[in-house]
Amino acid sequence: MKIVLLGYMGSGKSTIGKKLANKIYHKFTDLDTYIENKEGKTIPEIFNEKGEIYFRKAEHKYLQEFLNENDSFVLSLGGGTPCYAGNMDVIINHDGLISFYLQASIPTLKDRLINNSSKRPLLASLSEEKLIEYIGKHLFERSVFYEKATHRITVNSKEIEAIVAEIRILLH
Ligand code: S3P
Repeated sequence: MKIVLLGYMGSGKSTIGKKLANKIYHKFTDLDTYIENKEGKTIPEIFNEKGEIYFRKAEHKYLQEFLNENDSFVLSLGGGTPCYAGNMDVIINHDGLISFYLQASIPTLKDRLINNSSKRPLLASLSEEKLIEYIGKHLFERSVFYEKATHRITVNSKEIEAIVAEIRILLH
């Protein structure tokens, strides 16, 4: 199977992706990690040294490369991947691919991201108050892309196991 998980930063894409892949005996790949390995730099280093536009081009290139080279996978995207360079159309039009939008509320995302923003260049400099405002606006803009996924799963306070089970039911 070809499975893609997408959603905002902090929605649990990597954690859930790893668990899901494990359960269904598929290879798991995190697109951010794939990019870091290919570029030989961390995501913050790429943003700092080369800028966001370079990152978005690289993200597009490596997404296509990954999809062309792999037949069976669970792939977690970066939070912004679906929203740039026609990537969501690439996902939607890719043969046999099933995508899941992991939807989390603004308070859930804020709670998860407040102490965990240093590895995320887009959030690194925001205070708590600014973070809520930023997530609200950003999520609103991005939802248009996220909503194009094959399925939407609400995450919030659900256990990881329950989310994985929900995804597996939709895969049958
Ligand atoms: C980004 C999300 C990050 C990473 C980069 C940009 C975004 O991935 O790709 O920092 O634009 O939302 P995660 O969603 O895995 O944090």
